[in-house]
Amino acid sequence: MSRPETGTGLDAHDARRQAREQFEAWAHTYDRTLLNHFLFRPSYAVLLEEIARWHVKNDRSFSVLDVGCGTGTLAGQLAATPWPVTAVGLDYAPSMCAQASRKAAGAGASDQARFVAGDSEHLPFADGSFDVITCSNSFHHYPDQQAVVKEMRRLLAPGGRLIIIDGFRDNVIGWFVFDVIITRVEKDVYHAPWSVIHEYFVRAGLANIRRRKFNIWFPAVATIGDVP
Ligand SMILES: C[S@@+](CC[C@H](N)C(=O)[O-])C[C@H]1O[C@@H](n2cnc3c(N)ncnc32)[C@H](O)[C@@H]1O
Repeated sequence: MSRPETGTGLDAHDARRQAREQFEAWAHTYDRTLLNHFLFRPSYAVLLEEIARWHVKNDRSFSVLDVGCGTGTLAGQLAATPWPVTAVGLDYAPSMCAQASRKAAGAGASDQARFVAGDSEHLPFADGSFDVITCSNSFHHYPDQQAVVKEMRRLLAPGGRLIIIDGFRDNVIGWFVFDVIITRVEKDVYHAPWSVIHEYFVRAGLANIRRRKFNIWFPAVATIGDVP
């Protein structure tokens, strides 16, 4: 299932290029912006909590892939936990990956966190190579969201978990913030209704699918599904 036509006239290739140009330019200041503070940071806390819940039930070494990782904040936070975890961040914007690598090196976490430039639709890893896959505030940029969820499912090991966080546009505040304002600023993006995200997960063969909403003024939703 692909997202509906957004009316911008851009094809998938142009939409990816447009997203990359936006984020290449943003990489150096990304961590300091108000948007990062109010919109993105709460997502890392939710991701860490959901990963902790998974780890409680799977008490062993594990690997995390963060798709659309930006400046690699989540990977750095994972490396700072006492968990036996290794993290890989993937992002389409090479400057984001470079910034993420610099941050990990500065924190002495290069052994635990590495970063790869690539497209979410074609993840350059073997089947079943990760225990947990995360994706925060990036999914609305993907031209074929169903293909990405299937690709993420391919990489998950048995018992693995997928957690995707993006803007929740199913109430009035979310509709105004994401469908009106963010879409006007970012142009060719699509914040899927939760029923559509649920359907992506079902079609990819994930089970125990649930959602967790958070934030009032920038409402976000985490969709969580497990590999049976
Ligand atoms: C708003 S940032 C979110 C970064 C981080 N996950 C966070 O929550 O702060 C969105 C990121 O998605 C990346 N991105 C956009 N399209 C992508 C694609 N097709 N494949 C991989 N990453 C993509 C952008 O380069 C950008 O770094």
